[in-house]
This record gives sequence, C-alpha cells and structure tokens, in this order.
Amino acid sequence: MEVTYYGHACFSVKTKGKQLLFDPFVSGNPLAKAIHPDDLLSDVILVTHAHGDHVSDLETVAHRTKALLISNYEIVSYYEKKGLKGHPMNIGGKVQMSWGTVKSVSAIHSSEFADGTYGGNPGGFVISNDEGTFYVAGDTALTMDMQLIPKTCPPLDFAILPIGDNFTMGLDDAVLAAGMIECTTIIGCHYDTFGYIEIDHQYARKAFADAGLQLLLPAIGETITLSTHG
Ligand code: NI
Ligand code: MN
Repeated sequence: MEVTYYGHACFSVKTKGKQLLFDPFVSGNPLAKAIHPDDLLSDVILVTHAHGDHVSDLETVAHRTKALLISNYEIVSYYEKKGLKGHPMNIGGKVQMSWGTVKSVSAIHSSEFADGTYGGNPGGFVISNDEGTFYVAGDTALTMDMQLIPKTCPPLDFAILPIGDNFTMGLDDAVLAAGMIECTTIIGCHYDTFGYIEIDHQYARKAFADAGLQLLLPAIGETITLSTHG
C-alpha cells in the first residue's frame, strides 16, 4: 500500500487500484502551501469528523473527482444536501466495498461543522483487504475501546495515530495506543500544524523507539510504501 501525507490529518492510501483520501484539509494548512486541493486524488473520501481541519477541502475535491464520501450519518447527510454522494455509517458497523472492508470504530473527541451543524459522533476507520489492514484513528483520546480492534479486525499492518496532544492524544498516550491496537508501525499525524500541537520530534522518535515501535513522520507531499502481508 502506498501512503501519501498531505499534512495534518490528510492522507491518501492507494490500494486495490483506488485512491482512498482521508480528512481533506490542505488549503488552510500553513505547512502545506505546496499542496493544492487539485493535487488530491480520490476515488473515495473518508472523513472522521466534521471539524474544519478535516473537511475544509472536501467539497472542492469531491465535486472534481466525483468520489464517494464515507463518514458518519450526520456528515454524509450534510454533504448529500450539497449534491455529493455518500455512504453513511455509524460506530461499530462495517461495510464491504469492492476494494475492501471498512469498519467504523469509536473515537473520543467532538464533531461540529464550522456553521454550527451537529457533526455526529467522531470516529475512526479500519480498512482491510487482501493487500493488508490499517487503522486511521481520527482525532481521539487514548481510549480502552482501542483494545477491541485486535479482537474484531484482522491484524494491523500500520496505523495512523494523532500525536500532537492538546486536542488529541499526545506522544506518550499514542505509544500506549500502539500497544492496545497491537501495531508496531505507526504514522503520526495531527502535529505541528499550529501552535497548540507542536511536538518535539527527537522526543517523539525516542518515545516510540524505546517501546519497540517504528514512528514514521513523512514529509508533507511524501509517499511511502508500506509492506503489508494481507
Ligand atoms: Ni477535531
Ligand atoms: Mn483536528
């Protein structure tokens, strides 16, 4: 699987010939000035919650690419009213798509659109197919529910976890999360974008290495290929 980091919590994962785009937000990211929303490819857009730093480029990208939006019921309903096509889910449910299984898993956070519309419960996703399995946590605290993931999903090849603290888990809690989800390859996200979430990179690498974990912090715009066993 090929993972491209677009900054903050915006990633694309190429698998089974499809581009899965998560939490499209680049035009408002001061660190992602080199990335334009037109650079974002998507066959499917998956959104974890309604905060602006996860959805601000969603409409632009979805109108251009005609991607299917997968998110919670409230977020899908909100965008269907604006003419996008979506597949609604809710926590604990899974759906089989042609390119893989999507499971909606819990996150502890909040979810509200910039215009004040209720954005449903925040969540994360576990995506699984014969190329591998990965977890996108979304914005979340460390939560005991993470222990359910290895009990209910195929073994994870990698996970994308927030590490920036203040609004989500910080580094030390993310190390504990990696243990709960039984995954040793972690891609960090939701850090450095603005002042509240700046991290010490040296401490980050050491905290993960000391726990026997690999922390990947790709540059914005960088694509990494992750070995997966399916
Ligand atoms: Ni958020
Ligand atoms: Mn956020």
